[in-house]
Amino acid sequence: MANLERALSENVEGNFFVDSSCINCGVSRHYAPELFGDTGRYSFVKKQPQNEREVLEAQQALLACPVASIGTKEKLNLTSAIDSFPIRMAEGVYLNGFNHRNSYGAHSYFVKSDKGNWLIDSPRFIPHLVKKFEEMGGIRYIFLSHRDDVCDAERYAGHFGSTRIIHQLELDAQPDAEMVLEGEETQRIDSAEIHFTPGHTQGHLVMLWNKKYLFTGDHFAWKSDINMFGSFRNACWYSWQKQIESVQLMEAFEEVEWVFPGHGKWGRVSAKQFPEIIRESVKWMINVK
Ligand SMILES: [Fe+2]
Repeated sequence: MANLERALSENVEGNFFVDSSCINCGVSRHYAPELFGDTGRYSFVKKQPQNEREVLEAQQALLACPVASIGTKEKLNLTSAIDSFPIRMAEGVYLNGFNHRNSYGAHSYFVKSDKGNWLIDSPRFIPHLVKKFEEMGGIRYIFLSHRDDVCDAERYAGHFGSTRIIHQLELDAQPDAEMVLEGEETQRIDSAEIHFTPGHTQGHLVMLWNKKYLFTGDHFAWKSDINMFGSFRNACWYSWQKQIESVQLMEAFEEVEWVFPGHGKWGRVSAKQFPEIIRESVKWMINVK
């Protein structure tokens, strides 16, 4: 619960505020980039919402914030903002919100499929999402990109009888996972291609759905700081060189239309532009200090 007494001095005057419990994970800026800014240490309210759309975005940011650092001076009715989750992002793809503090606020997603739905990494286990996922037909698979973002996957798997998929090199984060991938081979399940992308961690995986929707975990994202897609040099826990090579292999994903990351902002890709985006990102990654 955000505390007005600890509100940041950078917030502009008005109903919404961010307090000093903020971990600067960036989630609020992904949901409402016009409303939340970055002090370098915290997110802060740079503009108060002015219309219905902006109020909804501010409320969605408040609900997604993993550490409850966003508050309001006046009591809010959050019913419709809660009900807006999961948010439809593309055909059959939803953004779950309710990011978990254990993953440093990573985004998670839900994918509809006739052969059984997928959860991509894990949000908080909360009754609202459980009910929504039930209404949408349950969860057959839980794709875990890597060790950092497993959060409440075990609880979701227990409730829905799901199959958790993780690489063997990340298994200590989810020792009871039902499906453990080994080696570097690409795996195909339903419309998913699961690719081995070591770098951020040793056993990191990305999932390409229907060739169009790329779920990248902490491997690759839209980076607002440099206004392009790339990886996080300062959050690379295994090998930057391997991560560059793992980004390079995505040049073959010619039909990607959307990138849906764990950390960083999701981003749309113009038709047939993904290979060029990858070439540019790799150039940047080779040179970044
Ligand atoms: Fe991570």
